Amino acid sequence: MSTQSHEVVDRCAALLLAEGRRPKIAVLLGSGWGPLAERVQDPLRLPYAHLPGFPEAGVEGHAGQMVIGRIGTHEVAVLAGRRHAYEDGDSAAMKGAIAALAACGVEVLVQTNAAGSLDAAMRPGELMMVADHLNLVQHSPLVGETGTKRFVDMRHAYDPSLRAQARTTAARLGATLHEGVYAWVMGPQFETPAEIRMLQRLGAQAVGMSTVPETILARHAGLRVLAISMFTNMGCGLQAETLSHANTLGVAQAASVTAVPLLEAMIADLEV
Ligand code: HPA
Repeated sequence: MSTQSHEVVDRCAALLLAEGRRPKIAVLLGSGWGPLAERVQDPLRLPYAHLPGFPEAGVEGHAGQMVIGRIGTHEVAVLAGRRHAYEDGDSAAMKGAIAALAACGVEVLVQTNAAGSLDAAMRPGELMMVADHLNLVQHSPLVGETGTKRFVDMRHAYDPSLRAQARTTAARLGATLHEGVYAWVMGPQFETPAEIRMLQRLGAQAVGMSTVPETILARHAGLRVLAISMFTNMGCGLQAETLSHANTLGVAQAASVTAVPLLEAMIADLEV
């Protein structure tokens, strides 16, 4: 990171620390997961525009604000809105935000997203915990970093202990929680049927346009990551209907009624 970026991160971290909050967990909300931001207790709302190094978040369904407060007994920072690589080709848009949170003492990043299912046993409206990912785009948000720290080990990109805890919470609540591999595609167009068949053969169960760059950034910053995908559709060619962002948001809104309380319980149960 350049010297100037360090300054931006330091300014942002100072601003957050001045609020007297000490979140250990950050939660990055994807399409359809927005209602979690309303569940935060004692909320302090900070628009991204007021936070140095934070991106402009523009896609429909993403508000672009950070809500600091409590979920259960945990202090959390909920990030409602992310900037996607498909907006301008930059996969490092969340770099400043994640670096600032790490500088404030955040140790865990919980990510959520909407995804297409590649597996007939994983249906729209259901959830999948990400066990691993395929960076098919082969962009890295760490391009331009210097020093040996950039060579990040990705073996446990999705933390085994956090996954075990999330599994336990889902089981306690009797909720279906699949597990599988998330393939990152650039978008914003959806896939072709041939691409969906390719992704199936490559061993992915979910396909989506986010999450992977932020996981790489989080691992680089030393955060542990938990990621949950909400299936909003079967991959192109695996269902009759055509795909659209409106469909993604519509299915996600319906599924969020059960998904958001589950996520809230998972976060409350985390041991950090
Ligand atoms: N493909 C890529 N991204 C997605 C999809 C999909 O089918 N559904 C929701 N996000």
